[in-house]
Amino acid sequence: MYESEGAWREVDAYFVDTLVPEDKALTDARESGRRTTMPQAEVAPNQGKLLAMLCRMSGATKVLEFGTLAGYSTIWLARAVGAGGHVTSLELEEHNAAIARANLEHAGVADRVDVIVGPAAESARRLVKEVKDGTAPYDFVFIDADKPSNPAYLEASLALTRPGSVIVIDNVVRNGAVTDPDSPDDRVQGVRTVLADIARDARLEATALQTVGSKGWDGFTIIRRTS
Ligand code: DHB
Ligand code: MG
Repeated sequence: MYESEGAWREVDAYFVDTLVPEDKALTDARESGRRTTMPQAEVAPNQGKLLAMLCRMSGATKVLEFGTLAGYSTIWLARAVGAGGHVTSLELEEHNAAIARANLEHAGVADRVDVIVGPAAESARRLVKEVKDGTAPYDFVFIDADKPSNPAYLEASLALTRPGSVIVIDNVVRNGAVTDPDSPDDRVQGVRTVLADIARDARLEATALQTVGSKGWDGFTIIRRTS
């Protein structure tokens, strides 16, 4: 707990109250996150809305998500793509996927979301195999699953997107731990490796932003595929 963490939380509460009203489907989805294998790991409301706005600003209608949990961000993404859009969300645990499916139903977006259960790297590999030559199934990718697999998830994302597609990666700061090249934490190493992969990939432009707020001190990487 940082000394200023109370103030970060108060400001987030003010912003959310002012600009990011949640309906019952969203508050219930957030609440039910406590019953998943990763309690309270979902994005904050103002972050969920950021994801939704990035989708709409980039004109995305087909979204791929790594890490569903209770489907909180999935609801934001599914609403952003509209009735004609589609979200594929990859989740390791059937227990979490069942909670997510109920939340997606309640939010009125179950018909435009597929939750695929299993190790996300394997599910993504199957999606890559299904890609026909010259087609790019996804316009927007949100990577928010197990952090050691970030490099594998980025690689799969690059086989499933096109120039202009946007990729967002959550949790790239981890209370500042990301700056330690010798960190023994394989989640930190997963972030550092994927950032290095992004930096040396000529097809990608990217930035990273730190965030403080109701989720503590963390951040996002935002990537645009240029070619
Ligand atoms: C963790 C993972 C998340 O996706 C998140 O948003 C917060 C924490 C974690 O691995 O601890
Ligand atoms: Mg996350």
